[in-house]
Amino acid sequence: MDFNQLASTLDTDIRIKRAQAVSIEIESYIGHGPLEVMEFGCGTGLISLNLKKKISEGLMVDSSSKMIKELEQKLVDQNITNIQTYTGDILESDFDRKFDIIYSSMVMHHIKDFQSVIKKLVSYLKTNGKLIIVDLLPDNGEFHREHENFEGHHGFTINEMVSALTEAGLKEVSGRKFYSSYKPVENKKHPYSLFSVVGIK
Ligand SMILES: C[S@@+](CC[C@H](N)C(=O)[O-])C[C@H]1O[C@@H](n2cnc3c(N)ncnc32)[C@H](O)[C@@H]1O
Repeated sequence: MDFNQLASTLDTDIRIKRAQAVSIEIESYIGHGPLEVMEFGCGTGLISLNLKKKISEGLMVDSSSKMIKELEQKLVDQNITNIQTYTGDILESDFDRKFDIIYSSMVMHHIKDFQSVIKKLVSYLKTNGKLIIVDLLPDNGEFHREHENFEGHHGFTINEMVSALTEAGLKEVSGRKFYSSYKPVENKKHPYSLFSVVGIK
């Protein structure tokens, strides 16, 4: 999928509403803030801007330069100076900082080798830091039917994601389904649900 092409039209009412539900779910795991936070696959920043009061220092990571450009404009417009951005491949990154909280929403299903990305994210967590993954529950392929060249995963089971975080060395890993909605696909409403999985380093 070409996320650069999607960047300027990503903030639809449907995505804004979903990002609000995802932000509330992520906030439920964060507890007291503000904290040092990384968002992986931040897109245009809908989630982290909802959570800005919980962020002391933030790093927003995305492989799409156009998504990051949209986010940077919002940071300027809202006079936010404690959030930095990184455009690129996380597997090639070498940040010299660690985070209390790392979260990622609707990104892992786009990444074939998501287990390697999870291990890399875990390497950026402080001791006792939390990794929170929000993603799609197993889907019959309808969710991405209109996206040409989709080569990712048609969702994950909670057990699959719990195993990935456990294998990456996290403890107290657990997950839950927290959101159900409909996505318009070829003039029909396709039902889908999201889960969250969290683990502690
Ligand atoms: C469906 S959007 C989700 C955006 C945002 N997290 C949300 O939930 O509103 C997926 C985002 O993941 C990013 N992405 C996809 N593969 C990536 C990768 N390998 N590394 C970093 N970002 C990636 C895309 O550029 C896009 O911004």
